Amino acid sequence: MAFEIDGQSLITGNLVRSSRSDAPPIEKTSGRESAASEVLPILTIAEGAFVSGADPSGIVERLAGRLHELRRASSQDVWDEVVELAQQHSVRRFLMQDPLTNWSATKPRGYSGDAGLLDIYYKHPSMEALVAESSPLGRAIYDYTSEVPACEAGRERCRILARTVDETAQRVGTGAEIFAVAAGHLREAAICESLAAQRIDRWVALDQDPISVGIMTTEYPGGVVQPMNGSVLGLLRRSYQLGSFDLVYASGLYDYLQDKTAIKLLQRLVEFVRPGGTLLFANFSDEIVSDGYMETFMDWPLILRSDADMWRVINASIDRNMFDASVWYGANRNIVYGTLRRR
Ligand SMILES: C[S@@+](CC[C@H](N)C(=O)[O-])C[C@H]1O[C@@H](n2cnc3c(N)ncnc32)[C@H](O)[C@@H]1O
Repeated sequence: MAFEIDGQSLITGNLVRSSRSDAPPIEKTSGRESAASEVLPILTIAEGAFVSGADPSGIVERLAGRLHELRRASSQDVWDEVVELAQQHSVRRFLMQDPLTNWSATKPRGYSGDAGLLDIYYKHPSMEALVAESSPLGRAIYDYTSEVPACEAGRERCRILARTVDETAQRVGTGAEIFAVAAGHLREAAICESLAAQRIDRWVALDQDPISVGIMTTEYPGGVVQPMNGSVLGLLRRSYQLGSFDLVYASGLYDYLQDKTAIKLLQRLVEFVRPGGTLLFANFSDEIVSDGYMETFMDWPLILRSDADMWRVINASIDRNMFDASVWYGANRNIVYGTLRRR
């Protein structure tokens, strides 16, 4: 059966990988042999280094670097085999002590990239105990995995969202209305000055995960932040009557959407943007170097996009006479952003 990311199904590594591969299936054994000859020496060296007590950060940095190179050099079928072999390898027992790798691979909420995982690399206080309870080796690995450029970019993304909300509130004057799609725990709200200054009237925060909706409800009482259970599929079906907004944004969502759904969703989201309003969406870029480690040991594959990919999604989605569009990168180019301003 061919799987499709339909905007509602829960996201797993296999689902993202299967959706990405357009290549016809080839003989399993040839891919497996080639993958094994490439990846097993890399994994064996890493395991030996852990056993001999070498510096954990250095081990994971080298391992991640080799996996990145291998991912770039491999056909999709060979890479799929690499992922399986890595996930079955005994070096995993060391890596799983890292709370970030462990959460990502074990998926406590049943899907990849949940807001709890982001809290770990956002270094949110709610995750301090989890990190503190990890083994010394796990914490040493975490010191590396939580500081890779992709995680730095994720933390910057949170600040960019808060800044964009503040700029919107400034532009609107009073009573700005905001719509966060796939909001997770809405951590940007905690560092957003305009929310504290009561310059926002309504901040609708949609997510498919009822746990995240519950956490937002507890953390942002007072009625301005309006958490709601909802899905991409519901948006595509126009199931929610929400009115229009000064800012609509989606962060940590497009990384899971194939172009077809990405375009349909953007077409739908711009309908929520009122004249003078803004739409912002973010995507991890194809310049990240932790992709190989993420796909193997974290079981967290993403659909990475370049600026050209972002333009392709934008140009297929909007009437350029109605919107000014720009595509830009965060500071370390690990995340690429699309901004649409409605005239
Ligand atoms: C990586 S987190 C991003 C959270 C937050 N936006 C941030 O940037 O910190 C991805 C979020 O997307 C939500 N999500 C994934 N697929 C979804 C779908 N089809 N409909 C609605 N939400 C979805 C998940 O529940 C999760 O909270």
